[in-house]
Amino acid sequence: MTTETPPGAPPRTGARLLAETVAALSERAPAIVAAAAEEMRDVRLALHFHDGSRVTMTARYSRLLVEPDLVGEPDVEVAFDDRAMNLVFDAQRPPVEQVLPQSLDVRGPRDRVLAVWRAFVLLSQRASGLRFVQQLWREYREQVPELWGRVTGESAPRVSPHGDGSTGWSAVDFLAARQPLDPGDQVVVGGTATAAPRLLWDGRRSTGWWEVRPVCDADLVQTMGACRARANREIDRLLPDREPKEDLYDLMRSYPTRQGKGLRPTLVFAACTAFGEKPENAVRAAAALELFHNGFLVHDDIADESTHRRGLATMNAEFGNGLAVNTGDALNLLAVDAVLANLETLGLARTLGLIQEAMHMCRESVEGQALELGWIHRRVVPPRDEDYFTMSTKKTGWYTCITPCRMGAVCAGITDPDVLGRFDEAFRLIGIAFQIQDDILNLVGDEALYGKEALGDLLEGKRTVMLIHLFREAGERERVRLGELLHRRRVEKTQDDAEELLDAMRRHGSIDYATELADRLAAEGIARFERDLAIIPENEGKAVLRQIAHYVTTRPL
Ligand code: IPE
Ligand code: IPE
Ligand code: MG
Ligand code: MG
Repeated sequence: MTTETPPGAPPRTGARLLAETVAALSERAPAIVAAAAEEMRDVRLALHFHDGSRVTMTARYSRLLVEPDLVGEPDVEVAFDDRAMNLVFDAQRPPVEQVLPQSLDVRGPRDRVLAVWRAFVLLSQRASGLRFVQQLWREYREQVPELWGRVTGESAPRVSPHGDGSTGWSAVDFLAARQPLDPGDQVVVGGTATAAPRLLWDGRRSTGWWEVRPVCDADLVQTMGACRARANREIDRLLPDREPKEDLYDLMRSYPTRQGKGLRPTLVFAACTAFGEKPENAVRAAAALELFHNGFLVHDDIADESTHRRGLATMNAEFGNGLAVNTGDALNLLAVDAVLANLETLGLARTLGLIQEAMHMCRESVEGQALELGWIHRRVVPPRDEDYFTMSTKKTGWYTCITPCRMGAVCAGITDPDVLGRFDEAFRLIGIAFQIQDDILNLVGDEALYGKEALGDLLEGKRTVMLIHLFREAGERERVRLGELLHRRRVEKTQDDAEELLDAMRRHGSIDYATELADRLAAEGIARFERDLAIIPENEGKAVLRQIAHYVTTRPL
């Protein structure tokens, strides 16, 4: 996503600004969006902006959905001009002085209005601290600077009234009705008692903005970028500077230097710091996992006959299978070296622990690959979602989610199997949700962001949740036709064949089914995370782990 408004682009409307803010927050602070979504669980919110644009906002599991215009009957309606927008963006500042009469109008049942308010306090608290979002808002303000911070004299657009007004009410009137201030609200400034700044109100008690505990998290995109960069520096250090360069060592650099998300190194660093150890202790384990990941990907692209990886041609497509097989071997070997490099810094016990973790992970991965490739080879579409869960946990879940956490903990000196095992169930569920989201993105994602060939999974015959659902739902005759398309060899399969399968999935609701399933699994995983990992005190490392747990199903790439 870019913050730059391209020259000649139409000015940003309030509706677009809100949608972009929520999208940026979902990517960068997913746990905050999830907390706000939890507040908004039962609320359909309609927002009206001074420029006439409108949106409807609802919550779905960890996500906030923003739809253009009015959709359905809202529970709460808010109309505001730019001065009130300022408040929404920066709700942690003393607000009421900035919200002038007629600049904000709120309607709806009291409990739901308050739920919305709490959600916006959470969102604004985080949004106003993110440079990326600040930039969005700065651009918006610069469009019409004269509107900010001064009374325009125009009233805010009217929201549709609820009957005779007995159920609708204005937040401004409500706040104003709190006058006179409680005697306790007096503060002494320069020897004179004066009114304290007005207070935010959470429906139960007043909370001074200065009292709100800062939410412990960071910009996840930046965190992941930094962790990836740190692991890559270590990979660079480990790669030997020798011949043969062109046909081996340069090829080994190819995948790692492309833009991956850095999920695994981030989990390793986060788990290590969550247990109170410095991140530097985890750097070789993080590098090892990225090396295994890249080695697996090089081999996986051969096995899947894939053409694109992270926006560029796959190694097999560019250099042929021979060199690619060998480069994959070399990456996996270097990964073992990276684990062993911990001997000097972490000592024998932790290094042996890491070897054990890595060996288990590799076994799971090759078993998972075998399950999936075997289905394709034998033209089997497994009947149950559980078959997919088993396969994807093995091929992806262990090496992407569970093992990175466990290895990070081992780097911090955790050896108790019971403690290490606390990651397993939470991150098994989160790992399945991650893989389902990956499969969904292959069908509906933005190809430029996603970096693999669109509909590649259909061309490759992947047994995704959508495909399994489709084959369960299709009638006998349709199933025969779909099977015929699916089982065509990759080289004989056309884009039209893939489109036909995709159409069938759309018709049978298979993509919606998978989205719902991924959301449900992620929510279960998050609940397990909170329960099983309650032994870890709240700290920055744990907050990053939590962010990632929420990120898997909201990620756009
Ligand atoms: C891709 O993993 C392979 C799967 C397990 C789905 P990622 O989606 O984490 O790949 P990069 O590193 O971000 O490219
Ligand atoms: C990759 O699985 C898992 C590995 C062991 C590398 P996929 O084949 O589903 O992932 P993509 O779609 O190629 O990234
Ligand atoms: Mg693949
Ligand atoms: Mg594969």
